[in-house]
Amino acid sequence: MDQFLNALPKAELHLHLEGSLEPELMFALAERNGIALPYSSVEQLSNAYNFGNLQDFLDLYYQGAAVLQTEQDFYDLTWAYIQQCQAQHVIHIEPFFDPQTHTARGIAFDTVINGISRALEDAEREYGISYGLIMCFLRHLSEADAFETLQQATPFLDKIIAVGLDSSELGHPPAKFAQVFAQARELGLLAVAHAGEEGPAQNVIDALDILKVDRIDHGVRAIDDTALMQRLAEEDIALTVCPLSNTRLRVFDDMSEHNILQMLAQGVKVTVNSDDPAYFGGYLTENFMALEKSLGMTREQAIQLARNSFEYSFATPERKVELLERLERFSTAK
Ligand code: ADE
Ligand code: ZN
Repeated sequence: MDQFLNALPKAELHLHLEGSLEPELMFALAERNGIALPYSSVEQLSNAYNFGNLQDFLDLYYQGAAVLQTEQDFYDLTWAYIQQCQAQHVIHIEPFFDPQTHTARGIAFDTVINGISRALEDAEREYGISYGLIMCFLRHLSEADAFETLQQATPFLDKIIAVGLDSSELGHPPAKFAQVFAQARELGLLAVAHAGEEGPAQNVIDALDILKVDRIDHGVRAIDDTALMQRLAEEDIALTVCPLSNTRLRVFDDMSEHNILQMLAQGVKVTVNSDDPAYFGGYLTENFMALEKSLGMTREQAIQLARNSFEYSFATPERKVELLERLERFSTAK
């Protein structure tokens, strides 16, 4: 089954590039850039990855991202993630990046986006991995700060497919970003938002109604609201669910309590994703494996989850046909 799950053609729709920064690369970049880390070894750093909630994780995640300084650093970060995709048969990706984490430290917006984009272009050319890049606003910062970021992105709109919203959900509801999402949509960008991860089902409703998002990131708390569950199913609103993240950040105490297969059974278009794999103990295949091990996910369910990842991606209609055909060929050959 592990081999089947790895070979399964799949897409990843919820991955923070800064969250794919492995401890080894973090140390290498710190050395290359002459930055001191508050840890003496990779092992000591990894041992600190013991989180009680989302904020515990975010504090370490923002600290780790400080080693990223040059365009080559952003290229190397993205390229390392692409190597994992290539090894795990992830053939379409829609990664997130958090420009404000870097511009707040004096790194230029173009340094960040040029390094990331160059790696994504190379991945498409060398491996045939298609992609769409999503720019996230940090919700613990102001809407004015998000507007400034959107302004900085304007010369690069051809490199960005959508805007997103991440960071601390509690205390920073979707309505705070109503205007900047409206402007992003006017510029022709699609939209997603983290909602219903630690926050209530109402945040999922508000992300849909106020921010007019095309997809919901996480959304697992939607299960608390029967009418919302029905709406998600009827309106084909996809959720990008991150199982290992949810257990590591204690959204669920144990994987056996995760609700992803329950949502799938209720007709909600859930997908599997890794969120911040360097911090949560696994990439996409490991997330699928955890569902098999703890929830008894079947091959048919895994194929349906992979199908959802293609169907609800932002790939072009022509590319979607190719992706879905790849999956059909794989599943009929098995
Ligand atoms: N940034 C990176 N990972 C995140 C998550 N799981 N939730 C909110 N913001 C994030
Ligand atoms: Zn996330």
